[in-house]
Amino acid sequence: MRISVIGVGYVGLVTGACFAETGNDVICMDIDRDKIEKLKKGVIPIYEPHLEEIVKNNIKEGRLSFTTEIKKAVDHGLIIFICVNTPQDEDGSADLKYVMEVAENIGKNMDKYRIVVVKSTVPVGTCEKVKETIEGELKKRGAEVTFDIASNPEFLKEGVAVDDCMKPERVVIGVEHERVEEILRELYAPYTRTGAPFIVMDVRSSEMTKYAANSMLATRISFMNQMANICEKVGADVMMVMRGIGSDSRIGPKFLFPGVGFGGSCFPKDVRALIKTSMTNNYRPSILEMVMEVNDEQKKTFVDKIKGFYKGDLKGRRFAIWGLAFKPNTDDMREAPSIYIVNALTKEGAFCNLFDPKAMGVARGIFKGNSSIAFAKNQYDALKDVDAMVLVTEWLSFREPDYERMKTLMKAPVIFDGRNQYNLRTMAKMGFTYICIGRPPVLK
Ligand SMILES: NC(=O)c1ccc[n+]([C@@H]2O[C@H](COP(=O)([O-])OP(=O)(O)OC[C@H]3O[C@@H](n4cnc5c(N)ncnc54)[C@H](O)[C@@H]3O)[C@@H](O)[C@H]2O)c1
Repeated sequence: MRISVIGVGYVGLVTGACFAETGNDVICMDIDRDKIEKLKKGVIPIYEPHLEEIVKNNIKEGRLSFTTEIKKAVDHGLIIFICVNTPQDEDGSADLKYVMEVAENIGKNMDKYRIVVVKSTVPVGTCEKVKETIEGELKKRGAEVTFDIASNPEFLKEGVAVDDCMKPERVVIGVEHERVEEILRELYAPYTRTGAPFIVMDVRSSEMTKYAANSMLATRISFMNQMANICEKVGADVMMVMRGIGSDSRIGPKFLFPGVGFGGSCFPKDVRALIKTSMTNNYRPSILEMVMEVNDEQKKTFVDKIKGFYKGDLKGRRFAIWGLAFKPNTDDMREAPSIYIVNALTKEGAFCNLFDPKAMGVARGIFKGNSSIAFAKNQYDALKDVDAMVLVTEWLSFREPDYERMKTLMKAPVIFDGRNQYNLRTMAKMGFTYICIGRPPVLK
């Protein structure tokens, strides 16, 4: 099938490459010239496992190409996927200016039947607006072209995005006509062959499904963070409680890890956007409001813990920060808890040595101008002469570090673990002071 993808970010690039991988003829379009020039040469602008391999392979096979010309993209694909960003607007709602820009451009350039599929995460009713905008543009130039609109929310997880795309747990589409369902069913057939459900619904329910999914996951995290905080008060170990409840099939083990709060390009903005949608419709979503409040509080509580350990004075203290990306296996730092934590520590007069296996480049941009930080060459380099190590993102290489080597490098053997990565007994045996989340601390 001929496919066009508009917006070549984490979602667009992975989607385009994965559609090409099963034999489709894909053109990816973006307004970012620099990004497109790099991609044409096979240079991948983001870190995502296995992505480089399939992008390069499909460029070579002639099934994947890149352009900055919208006309070329609209002419090419029977199906046009809108994958542009929908960032948070000032009032918490989703900013739809990029989606609407694309809709306008499609309307200006469409000459034959097209199926326009919105993959970006958008509030309920957006597909209708996209449709009206395209119709408006067609009318302006007196073009009598038919088209269909569909919603197809994306559920990929950064870090395992290629795998999620090639083997989705489910595909959700929202359509107005059976003819669109049939074409999308055919497009997705290679990915759902092993039995993943292909769920067809109306457009509004499909748009809502994405927000409900992210809100549910964010709720589980905030719930567990609250459990962790209660565990600390009563002397229980939240990791034991987690295992205890996760084995209940009604609850399940996933997304129960307590930590420093969720971040990333989706959960915070999507929960806020759903709150806004709900309020606009005269309904106060109190659970979601608390999910965000608990999350904001969780980051602050972690910094307060560090501050409390040093009796409220962080001036002149040095910390190694292990992990900056909002989660492992990505370089994405959008709304990463590390940003809050590093800024809060340095604001209190501390110095931070930062290290992340993949997000150093992104971090340099984010912390530009902060003179109280340094970028380390590797995780051990970050530990030189520090008062403590602060673990923020649970990269695999941090899980079994060389504890002896750590102790020789650090000024004091102290770990603040925002992801509960280490065993309490090992910490005690190795002589570390260990402060984590929802578990009794190991104090020397
Ligand atoms: N990143 C994720 O893990 C993820 C997962 C599921 C859903 N989503 C949703 O998918 C959408 C895209 O997210 P992302 O993380 O890929 O965003 P991104 O910021 O990585 O990429 C968006 C791309 O769109 C391009 N763009 C903006 N306006 C454009 C225009 N008018 N024409 C052409 N290109 C344009 C930008 O230059 C950028 O390259 C968002 O709505 C997001 O909420 C993201």
